Amino acid sequence: MKKLAILISGRGSNMKAIAESCQSGTLKNIAKVSIVIANKLNAKGLQTASDLSIPTAAIDSSGISREEFDRTVLSFLKATKVDYILLAGFMRRLTKEFTDAYPNKIINIHPADTNQHRGLGAYEWAWKNKLPNTKITVHYVNDKIDDGQIIAQADVDLSGTKSLQEVEVKGLAVEHQFFAQTLKTVFQKNNQK
Ligand code: GRF
Repeated sequence: MKKLAILISGRGSNMKAIAESCQSGTLKNIAKVSIVIANKLNAKGLQTASDLSIPTAAIDSSGISREEFDRTVLSFLKATKVDYILLAGFMRRLTKEFTDAYPNKIINIHPADTNQHRGLGAYEWAWKNKLPNTKITVHYVNDKIDDGQIIAQADVDLSGTKSLQEVEVKGLAVEHQFFAQTLKTVFQKNNQK
């Protein structure tokens, strides 16, 4: 059973989808969410995690250095002995010290093709450019924004969408399925090694 930590900054809908998948879906008997860590004290996802009986930690990233924040998170991860760290709506770049501590074990979901759009506002970008489709990318994390090796991508058909909100609803529906499915493949592959 893989022990997961999920890092969030806000709503936490991807975190919820993964947690539910571990409890009763694609990742059942394969993985478990051991801790959810937020860098914002008021992140809505903290309550969602508590409601799912998952231990949480809130570490306020404002006013401390990037290095200090990352070291504090690392100490929680080491104490919890996690196998993988998932970034799910975690709006921060990690230091090299952090990413080097977990090579090929930190995985992010990004709501665009990372070859085409990185950073914030990926659904706005797709909407403003009237893209007929966009991609969801699951990728390994390095110390740059949305830059690590791509693990898998899923297409999102945007034809007929009439608002940015519709684009987001369609994209998130794909994200919530695709992240868990991709993780299952990663965990099974790494079990065979
Ligand atoms: C998602 O679109 C995710 O791909 C991106 O930020 C958003 C976070 O949403 N990195 P949530 O917090 O998982 O609801």
